[in-house]
Amino acid sequence: MAFVKVSEVLRLADEKNTSAIAFNCVDFNTVHSVISVAEELQKPVIVMLYPGHCIDNNWTTPQAFAPMVKAEAEKVKVPVALHLDHSSDFEYIKGAIDAGFLSVMYDGSTLPAEENAKNTKLVADYAHAHGAEVEAELGCVGFAANESDQSNEDMYTKPETAKQFCDMTGCDSVAVAIGSAHGYYSKTPKLDLDRLKAINEATDTPLVLHGGSGIPNDQLEKAFKLGINKFNVGTEFLGVYFKTVCKYAAQFGGDDKHIILDMAIPVQEALKAYLREKMTLSHI
Ligand code: 13P
Repeated sequence: MAFVKVSEVLRLADEKNTSAIAFNCVDFNTVHSVISVAEELQKPVIVMLYPGHCIDNNWTTPQAFAPMVKAEAEKVKVPVALHLDHSSDFEYIKGAIDAGFLSVMYDGSTLPAEENAKNTKLVADYAHAHGAEVEAELGCVGFAANESDQSNEDMYTKPETAKQFCDMTGCDSVAVAIGSAHGYYSKTPKLDLDRLKAINEATDTPLVLHGGSGIPNDQLEKAFKLGINKFNVGTEFLGVYFKTVCKYAAQFGGDDKHIILDMAIPVQEALKAYLREKMTLSHI
């Protein structure tokens, strides 16, 4: 049985002064690939579900997803954790916890600071009373599509507020804004590593880096050493999925039903090849 809490994976990462990697998954192809490669490389891993992929795109639901991840996790020996990514909807979060998510993110990053702290505490109190953990966000990690987000220091996490925010909310980990953004970057991001160091010195709460697709490896290595214990990757990973489907459709096309049935294997192979390389970044 390898299904564990996110805090257990983050503890293992912290012990080795590195980061665990958390992948945005949407279905069996993604979940199975992540967990199989984690077992192959003997590295703990975190599977994440992004609510937008359920609400907007109808890929799955927390209720369908959690048992699938648990079943796959039970087949391997490495620790596997399950996390609900960005949600600002308390009812949705409660539903995910009921469905078996032992970790959820409450994202109040677009709210005024006091409101973010107040809401995060409410969610953390509820989650803790129900055996779950909470990742918060302090500062605001924006979107790479809004070019200014990644370089807008007004959105960055302020080291001097980190300790008070973490102590007051009781969050179990905190996502920090230090120069990354979600989605494909049009300009190579430059992480504010001095700021990260100062945040890490200010609080003992594990730090999370979002917007992991496209950050150069040398910056990631430094960020992991300076306190990042959880690193989120989505766009790149799902991009591999999409490119593989496009390539496969272009190659085989037609209306033979075996074409669609045979597609899962090449998709999983491509995802696994990507994961083997990406996961070597984590020295967990
Ligand atoms: P990317 O999609 O940019 O890799 O970011 C993923 C993420 O941070 C999920 O929370």
